[in-house]
Amino acid sequence: MGKIIAITNQKGGVGKTTTSINLAASFSTMKRNVMLIDLDPQGNATTGSGINKSQIQYSSNQVLCNEISIKDALIKTSGGFDLLATSQELIVAEMQLLQLPEREKHLKTILDSVATNYDYILIDCPPSLSILTVNALVAADSVLIPIQCEYFALEGLSGLLSTVEQIRNSINPKLHIEGLLRTMYDGRNRLALDVSSQLLAHFPERVYRTVIPRNVRLAEAPSHGIPVLHYDEKSQGALAYLALAGEILRRSEKIEV
Ligand SMILES: Nc1ncnc2c1ncn2[C@@H]1O[C@H](COP(=O)(O)OP(=O)(O)O)[C@@H](O)[C@H]1O
Ligand SMILES: [Mg+2]
Repeated sequence: MGKIIAITNQKGGVGKTTTSINLAASFSTMKRNVMLIDLDPQGNATTGSGINKSQIQYSSNQVLCNEISIKDALIKTSGGFDLLATSQELIVAEMQLLQLPEREKHLKTILDSVATNYDYILIDCPPSLSILTVNALVAADSVLIPIQCEYFALEGLSGLLSTVEQIRNSINPKLHIEGLLRTMYDGRNRLALDVSSQLLAHFPERVYRTVIPRNVRLAEAPSHGIPVLHYDEKSQGALAYLALAGEILRRSEKIEV
């Protein structure tokens, strides 16, 4: 049974999508079977994986509305992982979800049918605590939280952690924090250093040792529709996401990689 990781933070622009695409590609390079679910109606993970949103035949919208099976909707990407793509129509699915009796569990039920085919299923969440994010948190085994080390970062984090706790105490007892990831990190910046040391002090076990630096290659790669590993494999960004994948594998599979 594959491990399902929701990549979430209700703040926008913190590196959720960048982490989703590049972690998916890094796991694929390490010979793991990976599915990436784009659960943000903006569809940035879809475009960044090289899929033209206007040309997708089936998307997460139809899957969530039970119009087609997830197996028929998955697209093989050049990054080596399978993608459940998204278009703006996901907003329609979001409204339909609200009318279902078991609306929080819908994605979980869908993923139960395919999870055994994958080692990792990553979910790129929207920047809100909407019903889509709740579906991701109910389906997931764990939560990976990208954090940009700046002033309001910690404030948003406590709200997110209490949401995770609420879901753990109610619908999904196995949900745990996979890890807190420092993104767009610039060690010359005093504030970044301060926030980073506060994170380490509060969550010593949960903060990844791997830090994702601010790296222009990471920002450029999506416009070419490829993960940074295939755009510039020697860049600091590519190396950082490979290191993160290695750290997660070591922690969860308890093997030397
Ligand atoms: N480590 C990084 N270095 C430089 N730019 C980055 C980095 N991570 C993300 N970006 C850029 O910052 C912006 C926001 O990142 P994104 O992953 O889309 O965040 P989110 O999904 O949380 O909204 C994007 O333009 C992205 O290319
Ligand atoms: Mg995003």
